[in-house]
Amino acid sequence: MIQILPVTGPKEPYKTYPEGEFMRRKLAAGNWKMNGLLASLTEIKTLASLPQTDCEVLICPPVTLIHAMAEICQDTAVLIGAQDCHAAECGAHTGDISAQMLHEAGAKYVILGHSERRGDHGESDELIRQKTLAAWSADLTAIVCVGESEQQRLEGTTLDIIGAQLAASIPDGATAENLVVAYEPIWAIGTGRVPTLGDIAQVHDFMRKTLSNRFGDIAANVRLLYGGSMNPGNVAEISGVSNVDGGLVGGASLKAQDFAKIISALGQ
Ligand code: PGA
Repeated sequence: MIQILPVTGPKEPYKTYPEGEFMRRKLAAGNWKMNGLLASLTEIKTLASLPQTDCEVLICPPVTLIHAMAEICQDTAVLIGAQDCHAAECGAHTGDISAQMLHEAGAKYVILGHSERRGDHGESDELIRQKTLAAWSADLTAIVCVGESEQQRLEGTTLDIIGAQLAASIPDGATAENLVVAYEPIWAIGTGRVPTLGDIAQVHDFMRKTLSNRFGDIAANVRLLYGGSMNPGNVAEISGVSNVDGGLVGGASLKAQDFAKIISALGQ
């Protein structure tokens, strides 16, 4: 039985209808990566002024912009998130930032285990699991990223890889409020290449089933995002794929004009 929860705020992953039916709200999450200076605040002002849709909107800028963006977006439908956090609460970790610091700066979400962090910084599934726990302690929703390399896809081990990443990167205690999972095939990130709709459906259906086996009914409501070269031209068809509850968007989230089209397609 799927639990029906009331809509309580902008972070609420459900939308409900008068008949008591509900469905997952889609999430348009922008990952700005290492892009954006103060001049980019104009983009966020434009986004914040757009008419609201049914789609939840999140921008994860570099950490230097989180506070300013959160101030701009206060009382608007746009939420601000971060791209990483340390697993510890505080301490001697030069250059690192804790989940609590991000929360205080105004972040509501944090992306964890992006393949660029797994690759550039050697992050393991276990470290991502610990970071997710840190995010939860600071009342941040974790967007845990998983995805196969091109070689793994060619070898036919995609589902094994995704299954292992889900098992080891997500801690016990996941709920639809504290967890979002993003499927991002590494070979599709920033390349303009995307999997077939059938391949996306296969992975997303697999992720739903895997999470349901582990977490039971609550897994039906955990949002599963697709990421990797999503753009205004392909968002509508990807959004229609089974168990795709939104997108994690890099390049096409940097300009408000492009991202607005993605938000509007996901909000349909
Ligand atoms: P892309 O990046 O949309 O530029 O491919 C997505 C991501 O890495 O989150």
